[in-house]
Amino acid sequence: MGYITKKLHIPKPPKRLYNIIAIIAAFHLLWSKKRYAEFYAKRTDVKALLDPREAVGGLWEEMGRVQFEFLVSKGLEPQHVLLDLGCGCLRGGLWFIRHLQTGNYWGIDISPNLLKAGRQFLAQEELESKKPHLILNHDLRFEELAGQKFDYILAQSVFTHMPETDIEECFQNLHKVLKPSGAFFATFNEGRRKGIIAKTRTNFRYPFPFFSHCVKNMDIGARGIIALFIPEDKRCC
Ligand SMILES: C[S@@+](CC[C@H](N)C(=O)[O-])C[C@H]1O[C@@H](n2cnc3c(N)ncnc32)[C@H](O)[C@@H]1O
Repeated sequence: MGYITKKLHIPKPPKRLYNIIAIIAAFHLLWSKKRYAEFYAKRTDVKALLDPREAVGGLWEEMGRVQFEFLVSKGLEPQHVLLDLGCGCLRGGLWFIRHLQTGNYWGIDISPNLLKAGRQFLAQEELESKKPHLILNHDLRFEELAGQKFDYILAQSVFTHMPETDIEECFQNLHKVLKPSGAFFATFNEGRRKGIIAKTRTNFRYPFPFFSHCVKNMDIGARGIIALFIPEDKRCC
């Protein structure tokens, strides 16, 4: 099992309105004591209604291309089967679906509205014939994937918005979906200490050893590569 880190530089888009919504939603979370993922899905759903491209961080072309080129540089070929964990409205998905053979793209997300927007983008791009699998999930036990195994799993800009318990759940269940020869990649915001970065309470940072700890505790019968690459300026997208 190996680790690779790759630094990305990601400029920041304007998003005042989204931050207002996020702050209101954060207070709602504190008062209602919902599970974080449930709160985050609801908040994302509202943002998706306003503008799905902005709801996943904007930079539609750039971040789509960056994640596509990254995985191709790590060996993604058309015959491979990919899980886009937290696929949103297919910012990267459209690139992957074009590249992969029919039926080889799987995307899961907790936001129904982002998945709906993703299906619309798919139709606009005339890519429905590639038969991607777009699935709503509620946690990271991967039961929705019904035993499907993947050559590559990508979580682009997902751990940046996730509390540690959810990340731990992801690693504990990864063996169910990653092929023995498979590779898992995720972006994260690096910090000296674990914690929430911004007042919106949805941007998290983690020290790299946190991931080593998660991997050590994995029930993995696979020799998958666990690789993490870091948004260089610590911005969450
Ligand atoms: C910043 S967006 C990035 C979306 C996509 N990866 C991209 O690059 O455009 C983060 C995504 O992660 C999804 N997400 C957050 N927690 C999740 C979870 N527990 N399971 C699946 N998706 C999740 C959100 O709904 C959102 O679509």
